[in-house]
Amino acid sequence: MTAPLILGIETSCDETGVGLVRGTTLLANAVASSVDEHVRFGGVVPEVASRAHLEAVVPTLHRALDEAQVGLDDVDAVAVTAGPGLAGALMVGVSAAKALAVALDKPLYGVNHLVGHVAAEQLENGPLTEPVVALLVSGGHTEILQVDDVATAAELLGQTIDDAAGEAFDKVARLIGLKYPGGPHIQRAAADGDPSAIRFPRGLTGQRDMARHRYDFSFSGLKTAVARWVETAERAGDPVPVGDVAAGFQEAVADVLTAKAVLACQERGISTMVLAGGVAANARLRELTQQRCEAAGIELRQPRFSLCTDNGAMIAALGAAVVERGLPPSRFEFGSDSSLPVTEVLI
Ligand code: KG4
Ligand code: ZN
Repeated sequence: MTAPLILGIETSCDETGVGLVRGTTLLANAVASSVDEHVRFGGVVPEVASRAHLEAVVPTLHRALDEAQVGLDDVDAVAVTAGPGLAGALMVGVSAAKALAVALDKPLYGVNHLVGHVAAEQLENGPLTEPVVALLVSGGHTEILQVDDVATAAELLGQTIDDAAGEAFDKVARLIGLKYPGGPHIQRAAADGDPSAIRFPRGLTGQRDMARHRYDFSFSGLKTAVARWVETAERAGDPVPVGDVAAGFQEAVADVLTAKAVLACQERGISTMVLAGGVAANARLRELTQQRCEAAGIELRQPRFSLCTDNGAMIAALGAAVVERGLPPSRFEFGSDSSLPVTEVLI
């Protein structure tokens, strides 16, 4: 018997995603991004994102159906990101999903965006062997999760106490005259720089911080350190060595992210790590994670880039896992929850 066809809708930030999945098989992953509309503001503007979702959700749904060569009547269940994310943006996806579920008379599942990132990995390399530690790094979040069962049990081990990792890339890019989104530009500039020329601070890694914030991150001090460094150079009339600054910054971020994620695996006795989020595109981060996982005997799993960034297929993948367990659908009255805790995999 073929697995049920799950339609997934994602609108938590600036990507409108609609995906179609059967079991752990990816059938379609259509995404419309409003990133270009945020460029001149240097970051995501919630109202602009909500409006863009409203305009993109129906065309993106049609693209996904075309890509999978199925019709709406073939859909067996609808899954949607219920949170966490931007309140207005989430509301667009949840409303669209409710409308579809009613019109098609199919069950509706409101699911957790963060756990969706982990479920996406199953579309790449097949069913996960839980437990896993997930390192999620994007413009909106920086978390270490422990996932004991992707459909039911996830725990937040640590998160950023200020800026997200991607946000730090974006802000530092602006400081050194590079464009938004900063990640790819910093990576390119860093290729011509020396990562050990400037040693920037690694937040929350001192002895006292490790006692209280073992798996947490902080990037605002790093951003300030870069700003000071640049200011000092400019005041002295020296040209700013953009390559060295970019490389030193990138090294500091990659170092602290991978060190804490590997530590979480070791201390929790977990031998699989999943790396996801837009920042997971960073070549240095991937290289260092791979090296440190290998040295520690940890299997690193990472989906292709289009499944790492926000998308609808990851939500469909989580919906498929939930449906497979026979869990009850969400009560139809549910609302989106911008601060949905990761422990609530299904709302
Ligand atoms: O997951 P994502 O596409 O969505 C949002 O968070 O909205 O992540 C976007 C973030 C941006 O902050 C961007 O600067 C960062 O991912 N990013 C990167 C790279 N490519 C994208 N950061 C570092 N290196 C990259 N190559
Ligand atoms: Zn995300």
